[in-house]
Amino acid sequence: MTKVTAAITAVQGYVPEKILSNHDLEKLVDTNDEWITSRTGIKERRMAADGEALSDFGVEIVQGILNKTGYSPEEIDMLIVGTITGDYRFPSTANVICDKAGLKNAWGFDLSAACSGFLYSLDIGRVYIENQTHKKIIVIGADVMSSIINYKDRATCIIFGDGGGGVLLEANHEGLGIQDAILKSDGSGREYLLQSIGGSVEPITKENAETPGQYVFQEGKTVFKHAVKNMADVAVEIMNRNNLTGTDVDWLVPHQANLRIIDATANRMELDKEKVMVNIAKFGNTTAGTIPLCLWEWEEKLKKGDNVIMAAFGGGFTWGAIYVKWAY
Ligand code: UT7
Repeated sequence: MTKVTAAITAVQGYVPEKILSNHDLEKLVDTNDEWITSRTGIKERRMAADGEALSDFGVEIVQGILNKTGYSPEEIDMLIVGTITGDYRFPSTANVICDKAGLKNAWGFDLSAACSGFLYSLDIGRVYIENQTHKKIIVIGADVMSSIINYKDRATCIIFGDGGGGVLLEANHEGLGIQDAILKSDGSGREYLLQSIGGSVEPITKENAETPGQYVFQEGKTVFKHAVKNMADVAVEIMNRNNLTGTDVDWLVPHQANLRIIDATANRMELDKEKVMVNIAKFGNTTAGTIPLCLWEWEEKLKKGDNVIMAAFGGGFTWGAIYVKWAY
């Protein structure tokens, strides 16, 4: 009997309509379009509307997947949401989305792994499909970064944007779908990229509510150094482990943090530029949202049997790569 594999069978993305361009940012902080474009590759990013929360993104994503597949909400067994900007500290946004989207038979949870949130979540979903205890699992990676960004801090506000996407995971009997995953973490990197206030280390008080710690802090140079090395290393590691060369890989789906990190990873993998999904110019860094947003944009170009490598690096530090044989 062939082993059951977990395959992505549908993709849906969502970005809010409002655009925040580099020129808009020039009015908020001491920066300029030329600096942002040359250092990051970003031209604009999306911003959630007032009152629009992560669960609203999630409902759009879930409904898009249901519309594409024709499945009813009751058929979904599980929902995993990779995010660091959930609706509340608790309950989980997965709970909220299940309620709002009518996923009455699903259970689920949020997973906190910053920019690696989608990859971590995807690998957990895979286990439940391979074990055949669940038939239809939706895995979302999405963030409302504008809810935790300080628009007076030019080190962070130029990078991040709002948006995300999700995939449906189902069993495959042709050996397609997720082939391998390598996921890593190193908590000693936490001080370089974090939101320090609002957790149990330092709960929000009247005194600290207006201080920078309530927003994202990033020591860009240090994170950059670790990202360039680790994202490329893990992508090459998963290629080697599966006897893949640059010629065998059809697509790299890299986390969109910085065009220079993406280029360095693609170079190490010896990939031609046209095999690399890049939409950072339009959406910036949507944290857990970048990889499913790319899959959504490239869905029409992906072909059954394509070898796809997804790779990410982010806060934590967390990083990893997943190798998928595209199933449709
Ligand atoms: O997704 C999660 C993981 N995150 C990442 O992977 C992000 C990794 N880091 C980066 O992408 C880059 O470090 C940044 C894009 C954040 C910053 O680029 P950089 O090339 O590392 O710049 P830098 O911080 O070393 O700053 C270079 C110069 C400094 O000026 P001096 O000291 O050379 O005079 C900064 O003050 O650029 C200045 N600068 C800016 N200038 C205009 C810093 N931010 C800005 C800005 N606009 N927004």
